[in-house]
Amino acid sequence: MDKELVNKVEHPHAIKSFVVRSGRMTPGQEKAYEEQWGDYGVDADEQVLDFELLFARQAPVILEIAFGMGDSMLEMAARHPENNYLGIEVHKPGVDRVLANISEQLLSNLKVMKFDAVEVLKKQIKDNSLTVVYLFFLIPGIKSVIKNGVLCRMILFN
Ligand SMILES: C[S@@+](CC[C@H](N)C(=O)[O-])C[C@H]1O[C@@H](n2cnc3c(N)ncnc32)[C@H](O)[C@@H]1O
Repeated sequence: MDKELVNKVEHPHAIKSFVVRSGRMTPGQEKAYEEQWGDYGVDADEQVLDFELLFARQAPVILEIAFGMGDSMLEMAARHPENNYLGIEVHKPGVDRVLANISEQLLSNLKVMKFDAVEVLKKQIKDNSLTVVYLFFLIPGIKSVIKNGVLCRMILFN
């Protein structure tokens, strides 16, 4: 059976917890982004992540799902160099900001993925490979509560 059809059958009512809005970058921003992504970005694919290889060392791995603009994750990574941090976010300005900060602060213990966290958790994270998982939602408001509820349910039950 063709793969597209299989996906449709397996996920007949595919729900997303986010909407991706694209913005424009200047050529300079684009170049900086490419360089920083090469150093600190992790491509989403079907491969299970090997954290030891990814961080070039063995240490507890802390995952932050949906890190927004990344303040909490950047602070944790700077304060706890003994841990490795992985952040997953779909919002490009947040990913760009974190990449720029990692590069500026030379944080070797923080990597980011720009993808749907539900898919990454399903396909790329080995069981029992994470020490802590954070999912912070600091913004009150009915819309964000609904979207956050969708994301939490998808993570818990998918
Ligand atoms: C209300 S914001 C919270 C951001 C941050 N955690 C905070 O507390 O400030 C929700 C975030 O979840 C992200 N998000 C929603 N669904 C997601 C998904 N499936 N995978 C990754 N990020 C997601 C959105 O892009 C957005 O940045």
